[in-house]
Amino acid sequence: MRYVYLVAAFLVVLTVSLLGFRGEQFTSAPMDVFPEWAFPGMKYQPKFRPQSSSTFFADGRADRPLPANVVPASLPLRADDAMYRGKDTAGAFVTTFPAGIIIDAKLMARGQERYLIYCAPCHGSLGDGNGVVKKYGVAATSYHDDRLRQMADGQIFDTITNGSPSKLMLSYADKLEPEDRWAVVAYVRALQRSRQGTAADVTDTAVRQSLGIR
Ligand code: HEC
Repeated sequence: MRYVYLVAAFLVVLTVSLLGFRGEQFTSAPMDVFPEWAFPGMKYQPKFRPQSSSTFFADGRADRPLPANVVPASLPLRADDAMYRGKDTAGAFVTTFPAGIIIDAKLMARGQERYLIYCAPCHGSLGDGNGVVKKYGVAATSYHDDRLRQMADGQIFDTITNGSPSKLMLSYADKLEPEDRWAVVAYVRALQRSRQGTAADVTDTAVRQSLGIR
């Protein structure tokens, strides 16, 4: 009967020594329970860890640099330059909206909603740069400057995608999908237009009369 205690004690010591004390740092290699010489297989194979060095290649790196212009197969290709980069095939910013974007009330409503979430805190809900963060010293550009009125649609898109040139404004690419960025560009254009209206824009005769426009 005493053997039961001995065997139990042995099992406890065995379990603790094999499985216990995990998560601690050791400088020596871990104990190999099934050594390669006794159990030959494919357990140990030569390999390089990512970003380690190697004498095989001339540049001393184990990993190979990617060939130019590769894209991960897991991502959509997004080859349409106007749609996804706001540029034409020559690399200049587009001055019109891409063909795939239909400007209608739905797009404007979406643009307004996204704008009020992501841009208004700095640029203000009127686009005049008077957002809530102004009193903390963030001087966001007013869209009603001539420079921004004349800015190409593609450049506004690019600012949302990559941030402003000085990077005072960071990229919003992770928050706005390309389609939403175009919706925001359309809404920024509407904000700009709101301050440049003339009497000629009112076409409804009844409204013209009620406003006293002849
Ligand atoms: C955190 C504050 C902040 C937010 C949010 C923000 N901006 Fe800006 N934005 C700025 C600042 C600051 C500048 C001026 C940057 C500079 O001088 O480089 C700027 C500049 C710009 C410019 C002019 C870039 C140029 O080339 O001069 C555009 C266009 C613009 N923002 C559009 C947007 C749009 C659209 C959004 C919403 C998606 C947005 N911004 C959100 C702070 C912000």
